[in-house]
Amino acid sequence: MQSKIEIIQGDITKISVDAIVNAANTSLLGGGGVDGAIHAAAGRELLQECLTLHGCETGQAKITKGYNLPAKYVIHTVGPVWHGGSNKESQFLANCYRNCLKIAEENNIKSIAFPSISTGVYGYPIEEASDIALKEIVSFLMTHSSFEKVIIVCFGERPYHLYCEKLNKIILNSQ
Ligand code: APR
Repeated sequence: MQSKIEIIQGDITKISVDAIVNAANTSLLGGGGVDGAIHAAAGRELLQECLTLHGCETGQAKITKGYNLPAKYVIHTVGPVWHGGSNKESQFLANCYRNCLKIAEENNIKSIAFPSISTGVYGYPIEEASDIALKEIVSFLMTHSSFEKVIIVCFGERPYHLYCEKLNKIILNSQ
């Protein structure tokens, strides 16, 4: 099961998978960071479709087409803003990963790429966020066999090495 999980370093807008995940905000009307990059690469039609969705709550996920992106779909999710950890941030972040995988499965998506949700503008410490991300993905894949590939796209060396290290630890602990 863990062989389905891949950690790469790069730009998620360039990844050719069935669906890429967007770390959006509750308006779903674009922003900076990966949200801005995805909207810029997908083109105006993405915003047009997002306007019909009437926003998204933190921890939830909504799906649109990918338009000019190599990916067929974009799954928009809203991560928690980090406020020190006492505002249920970890549960909301876990919900993002789980709800994205659920909506992907409902849409018969076989390959999906995630950014490191909430670890940019929203300030979630990547040490904790990467643990939550990997544990949620691993536990979902243990009970759902429809995915062929789940990729985490890291936007830099440091997150890449951190995610690789954590995934290796999870694999070692499961043997
Ligand atoms: N490809 C992959 N990862 C990227 C890319 C990219 N092109 N651009 C940024 N990232 C990474 C960041 O380095 C960070 O690790 O995505 C992660 C999430 O960072 P943000 O994009 O800032 O998202 P987040 O922290 O969830 O904050 C969401 O930021 O852009 C706004 O509209 C967005 O209000 C929302 C908020």
